[in-house]
Amino acid sequence: MFNPYKAIAQKAFFALDAEKAHGLSIKFLQTGAACVFKPHPDSRLEQSVAGLSFPNPVGMAAGYDKNADVPLEILKLGFGFTEVGTITPKPQSGNPKPRIFRLPTDEAVINRLGFNNDGHQAALQRLENLRGKGQIIGVNIGANKDSEDRTQDYVSGIDTFYKHASYFTANISSPNTPGLRDLQARESLSELLSRCINKRNELAKIHGKRVPIFLKVAPDLTQEGIDDIAAEVADKNIDGVIISNTTLSRSGLKDMTVAHETGGLSGKPVLTRSNIVLAKFREAIGNDMPIIGVGGISDANSAAEKIRAGADLVQLYTGMIYQGPSIAAKICQGLSRICDQQSLANISDIRGAKTEYYSNLEIPK
Ligand code: FNR
Repeated sequence: MFNPYKAIAQKAFFALDAEKAHGLSIKFLQTGAACVFKPHPDSRLEQSVAGLSFPNPVGMAAGYDKNADVPLEILKLGFGFTEVGTITPKPQSGNPKPRIFRLPTDEAVINRLGFNNDGHQAALQRLENLRGKGQIIGVNIGANKDSEDRTQDYVSGIDTFYKHASYFTANISSPNTPGLRDLQARESLSELLSRCINKRNELAKIHGKRVPIFLKVAPDLTQEGIDDIAAEVADKNIDGVIISNTTLSRSGLKDMTVAHETGGLSGKPVLTRSNIVLAKFREAIGNDMPIIGVGGISDANSAAEKIRAGADLVQLYTGMIYQGPSIAAKICQGLSRICDQQSLANISDIRGAKTEYYSNLEIPK
């Protein structure tokens, strides 16, 4: 089907350095241009997860709107929810440029941004000024590279954004902050989750609202790592898991030209890997724990496949770089078609249909 974004706008964006193109796309949304895109409402796509009501299961993943510049504009594109961040307590500039690399043949990206962001206070001001009620805006929190107490940085994120976050994501899975993924190890994770949950419970009493906390994990885990994290998440009563962040693996790439660049790989080549890790988590954690599936979604079929692997909700980022700003609405239309074809009362009826299939596959090297 003719896609005007691919035919025209993508060519213009891809003529620019990837980070400049990203900045330009944020400016484009700030002009109010999102109004020309039509969301696709359908009651069969509505989801209730972790006490929140989502108009559809397709969210914008963290990393696109790092500084909470355009959350409402993203929602106008037809996303059911959006996640700002990762935000760290202090502003930081991240790694030297260039640090985002496109792999067009694979519809993938390698990034080593390193949590470049304006810090808590700047994002807080933007969230305070938002005029929009009832929409779901998650806040993805992280730790500064030079922090002496990284766990405290997460606790401080919960404290700072409590009034404004629909949910929190504790991102311990970026490959671009040295040592951050060590927080996934059982002992460190136990301390991190306990301190975050304690802070949340304290603030829930003060503000009279309980904000869910999700944990975002890497797709580069062993079965043992998955079992450890699942046990800690269940033990600490975390509200959900986001699977997954970018991968350090380069397996499955057709074009190896920039594969040597350090950083996390996202986009189509991550789909099966993240589905396998997701399904293994679903098996380890049981049916009740909310899972948000991310990694490699580019259309309705890949979104549906993630739900079949066991996801309650999905998110995407790289798919929008290749398919354009109408991607969320198109995925929702495709999910509605699946509901029509299979006479489903709700798209969640396909959830878990392929958990067993994916969980029996090996995680690629
Ligand atoms: C990301 N991602 C990311 N995740 C996160 O938790 N915090 C972040 O700041 C970022 N930053 C970021 C920047 C860029 C340029 C990319 C491409 C990705 C990871 C993202 O949220 C998602 O987990 C992965 O990209 C996999 O999904 P997609 O992109 O394949 O749909």
